[in-house]
Amino acid sequence: MNNSNVVYHRATVTRNRRQKLNKHRSVIIWFTGLSGSGKSTLAHAVEEELHQDGCRTFVFDGDNVRHGLCANLSFSEEDRHENIRRIGEMSKLFIEAGVIALTAFISPFRVDRERVRALVSENDFIEIYCNSPLEVCEERDVKGLYKKARKGEIKNYTGISSPYEEPEHPDLVLDTANKTVEANVENVLKLLEERHIISRY
Ligand code: ADX
Repeated sequence: MNNSNVVYHRATVTRNRRQKLNKHRSVIIWFTGLSGSGKSTLAHAVEEELHQDGCRTFVFDGDNVRHGLCANLSFSEEDRHENIRRIGEMSKLFIEAGVIALTAFISPFRVDRERVRALVSENDFIEIYCNSPLEVCEERDVKGLYKKARKGEIKNYTGISSPYEEPEHPDLVLDTANKTVEANVENVLKLLEERHIISRY
């Protein structure tokens, strides 16, 4: 599409000014992992802590976004690329708005996650791998979808009939099979402090 006639309007209320008002930096916290690996649980639990500390936050969640913004997308490889591209662009707008954007998408393809990383500055993207073996996720089967996938009732199911590419250099790996939610939340908050996104004390 030709966008050469579209001119950006320069805002006077900038990201920097919003961050000063909020008293914290904005950032994308990108949770990736298999379905059932605890991405949404963790994103919401981290959000709860941040909110209680007075931070501006928002969680994007695969299951919710696919009912609205991405309702027209399937689970084909092509549509998954598009799903993540949209969320990447959306998250980028949120960090411009001064918000800590937490995302919980399987985002199975390395190339898509790297594209989002490249969309923003180096310090703006934190990739967190929710590492839980397929057997554990399948055993949990919170939504009963693994069972359906095994029976062939759902096609292209991540981990069963569609690949998941583990991150090669994630900013943080969480053991979501053996560690408690609280312990993992603490690890995330510690990293946010180390990166000077928030200061708790
Ligand atoms: S992604 O691959 O495009 O990043 P996304 O995180 O948005 O996936 O959606 C994953 C959720 O959709 C899963 O948690 C599951 O509930 C549901 N789902 C339905 N069909 C599939 C499928 N074929 N593969 C994976 N998840 C699916």
